[in-house]
Amino acid sequence: MDAIKDKIVVITGASSGLGAETARHLVGNGARVVLGARRVERLEALAAELGIGSQSVFKVDVTDREQVKALIDHAVELHGRIDVLLNNAGLMPQSPLERLKVDEWDRMIDVNLKGVMYGIAAALPHMMKQKSGHIINVSSVAGHKVRPGGVVYSATKHAVRIISEGLRQEVKPYNIRSTIISPGAVATELPDHITEPDVAKGIRDFYEQYAIPADSFARCVLFAMSQPADVDINEILFRPTAQEY
Ligand SMILES: NC(=O)c1ccc[n+]([C@@H]2O[C@H](COP(=O)([O-])OP(=O)(O)OC[C@H]3O[C@@H](n4cnc5c(N)ncnc54)[C@H](OP(=O)(O)O)[C@@H]3O)[C@@H](O)[C@H]2O)c1
Repeated sequence: MDAIKDKIVVITGASSGLGAETARHLVGNGARVVLGARRVERLEALAAELGIGSQSVFKVDVTDREQVKALIDHAVELHGRIDVLLNNAGLMPQSPLERLKVDEWDRMIDVNLKGVMYGIAAALPHMMKQKSGHIINVSSVAGHKVRPGGVVYSATKHAVRIISEGLRQEVKPYNIRSTIISPGAVATELPDHITEPDVAKGIRDFYEQYAIPADSFARCVLFAMSQPADVDINEILFRPTAQEY
């Protein structure tokens, strides 16, 4: 885990779930993290728990390109560089298309897809200049499959995989690594975003039965980060052992 020590890592969606747990693992292994999300009080509580300064906390709405740029620039000003961007912020208000929850479709596209693209746009200029860096984008099992009720979420997560793979090919001249992490059901606040009661119940029941703890994801991030510089882990797809979907 020496490869983690002193790495400068920016995490979006660090206020709960996968992002918060990954921050714990990274700091535990000596990385220096900058935590981004909208619920700044949650970020401050996490920073206090981790014993890191309040300058490591940055309020950001990833649907706002300027705010995402400010987050990345803040990390570079603070630490002199950015080694890893964990593009993790996301939400999953699932529902069948026929219910026309168009505002929620827009929201998923804005956060899950455009938020990731804004992260890339903000980090790339620094990483190109450094001639080093690592962009880790969070997709999903739903980025490999689609099923009724999860169409738009699945579309955003498929798009994240395509963008990541295209990015991987384009950034070869700059020595930048690119990883997609696609989790199955992991116990976080993700099902809480579902507004349709019957859909919410179905997903909650599924998560109660199958979901595994968030350290499963954190260990994947650390695995990808800790490879030698000439090894680029491009995708990790993992599920709870009991999950069929
Ligand atoms: N848990 C799973 O089973 C699972 C499976 C596959 C993929 N994923 C993906 O994993 C990622 C993390 O989700 P999670 O499971 O950890 O869920 P979570 O506990 O709900 O965390 C989501 C995070 O995203 C942030 N976020 C949402 N909208 C945002 C916005 N507009 N600007 C900035 N941050 C925003 C939230 O922070 P604020 O609300 O404080 O802004 C929160 O920190 C997501 O991309 C999700 O799609 C999760």
